[in-house]
Amino acid sequence: MNAHARELAASFDLERLTPEFYDNPYPTYRALRENEPVKRLPNGTVFLTRYDDLVTTYKNTRSFSSDKKKEFTPKYGASLLYEHHTTSLVFNDPPAHTRVRRLIMGALSPRAIASMEGDLIALVDRLLDAIAAKGDCELIGDYAATIPIEVIGNLLDVPHDEREPLRGWSLAILGALEPVVSPEAFARGNQAVKDFLSYLQTLVARRRQKPGNPERDVLTRLIQGEGSGEDNGERLTETELLHNCIFLLNAGHETTTNLIGNGLVALDRHPDQKQRLIQNPDLIKTAVEEMLRYESSNQLGNRMTTEAVELGGVMLEAGTSITLCIGAANRDPVQFPDPEIFDIARTPNRHLAFATGAHQCAGMALARLEGAIAISRFLARFPNYALSGKPVRGGRVRFRGFLNVPCSIG
Ligand code: HEM
Repeated sequence: MNAHARELAASFDLERLTPEFYDNPYPTYRALRENEPVKRLPNGTVFLTRYDDLVTTYKNTRSFSSDKKKEFTPKYGASLLYEHHTTSLVFNDPPAHTRVRRLIMGALSPRAIASMEGDLIALVDRLLDAIAAKGDCELIGDYAATIPIEVIGNLLDVPHDEREPLRGWSLAILGALEPVVSPEAFARGNQAVKDFLSYLQTLVARRRQKPGNPERDVLTRLIQGEGSGEDNGERLTETELLHNCIFLLNAGHETTTNLIGNGLVALDRHPDQKQRLIQNPDLIKTAVEEMLRYESSNQLGNRMTTEAVELGGVMLEAGTSITLCIGAANRDPVQFPDPEIFDIARTPNRHLAFATGAHQCAGMALARLEGAIAISRFLARFPNYALSGKPVRGGRVRFRGFLNVPCSIG
């Protein structure tokens, strides 16, 4: 086993992953954590798997930059994908990051999120009625993917009959963030940014003419915070406004879909925990945290060193590109006793599914609310639900989830 683990760690290459890895990456993550926690990959980048090393990296924004201009120049060239990703707040350092984050955090305040709860419950119950009427369901298409799209559609107040293309655009843009991008995936991603931008320009023009309520409508709020950049640098330019709206949809879509999908699949695979949750519905909050830890929907993050810096006993030169493996850190036994056990009452549970530090997920309260409502109401309505076929994985390493999960509702 040890020799096998050493070999797994030694041969690990993010650009050459096997079908077994996509199916279950955790044995490889464990082998890396135990044997080469600061792993130099064949392309010169570094892959981190220990909880403490991830926290150190996330918290030190001076030595570990989120700015991706250098890294994305060879990957995307002078393309719309390049413009999109390098304008998104998540891939910027202060001061560009701070300005946009402040506006978005204001729009996702606890009060704003609490005010979404009623609509969210109504939406979930409508979907559950439709599933009950149909008699069975495909968990992702009929349920998990629909909820976040509708929530962010509501957040930006996108008219209902204009929401259909949003999911496809989002999947295509995020697909181009995989470690290896095929020419087809690159073309799809670029086309999606182009179509999304052109749609948003129309939406923004309409909203400027007829502003919404900034308390509830994030787009109106961002538009009102928009300007020439002269107001102490607080306002957004048009390019920043459009790309950060796209980013909001992307950030909150696939990740939350995967939380709901992975969570319901994990309960099916752990019948004792499913029964425990049915009998103790109050455990839903800790259950959602455990779902986020156990099958983190966003498995990888990235940073680049701005100076020579020591990490986990290894010296890294300036300009080193780093991948932070959230999926591995969230199963680090130093932080989580019995990390391979799925325990819906686990406390404490300081997982890194939402990262930590300056870029910690701005939508985590919303994601938690969506997860709790979607999973608890599904379980209450269909306590005997069971997978009725083999779930199909999304085939991505960064975003871990399913594309298709056939399910009987009992
Ligand atoms: C289960 C669902 C979600 C997960 C697992 C997740 C995970 C993450 C992670 C790991 C980051 C940090 C990326 C980095 O710096 O490397 C992040 C950032 C972000 N997320 Fe989420 N997210 C989720 C849902 C959402 C939702 C629903 C929204 C909003 C509608 C959202 C908005 C954002 C934003 C705006 C950032 C950038 C924050 C910044 O750079 O300051 N996320 N998310």
